[in-house]
Amino acid sequence: MDIKISASILSANPMEFGKAIKDVETAKVDYIHVDVMDGHFVPNITMGPFISESAKSVTNVPLDIHLMIENADKYIKSFAKAATEGDIITFHIETTDKPQDIISMIKDEGLLAGVALNPATPAEAVESVIETADLILAMTVNPGFSGQSFIEDVMPKLNELSKNARPGTLMEVDGGLTCETAPIAVKNGANLIAAASAIFKHDDISKAVQDLKNSCNLEPAIC
Ligand code: DX5
Ligand code: ZN
Repeated sequence: MDIKISASILSANPMEFGKAIKDVETAKVDYIHVDVMDGHFVPNITMGPFISESAKSVTNVPLDIHLMIENADKYIKSFAKAATEGDIITFHIETTDKPQDIISMIKDEGLLAGVALNPATPAEAVESVIETADLILAMTVNPGFSGQSFIEDVMPKLNELSKNARPGTLMEVDGGLTCETAPIAVKNGANLIAAASAIFKHDDISKAVQDLKNSCNLEPAIC
């Protein structure tokens, strides 16, 4: 089973983002997850295109850009500027009534297009784009902050989405993922695990990533 790991730098020390990215690159994560928040769609404000651009200058690990912003369409070009093939831009379904337009915009930039759902948003909300999205992100916390607890109630929805998605779709979960919760998500169809605290709040980043990977392969891990 090929489960991928996306390391969210939201829990890393912002004064040391470069080092954090190098650390998870060494630990062989599959993506660097960049959490973009605007203070409108979510109550927090975090990073903009300058961070993803800077990240590109220090690593070849693909970026997994998670936009938690209103009017995502206005910012796709800015984020796409430094992005390269294989990078992902994901927007939230709750922010638009024209999701296919945003998906096309992202794909026209040569990037992978993802659509995210908040825990309370039903699976039907992404029905119209389930065939065209490259990635579906089922949030397992209410977006805004790292360090929150995994909402297991999202699992039936994840299961349904993973069964309805095209084969090969990246099925991402994000929020509260640890060695204990990642296997639950994997059993329900997740194949891409985003994690911040479980990686960056750990003294040994390589071990944290390895433990997370092992747990996803449903091998017991002590973490
Ligand atoms: C939450 C962000 C998540 C967050 C995950 O709004 O989208 O990516 O960084 O943090 P942990 O893994 O600590 O729950
Ligand atoms: Zn995220």
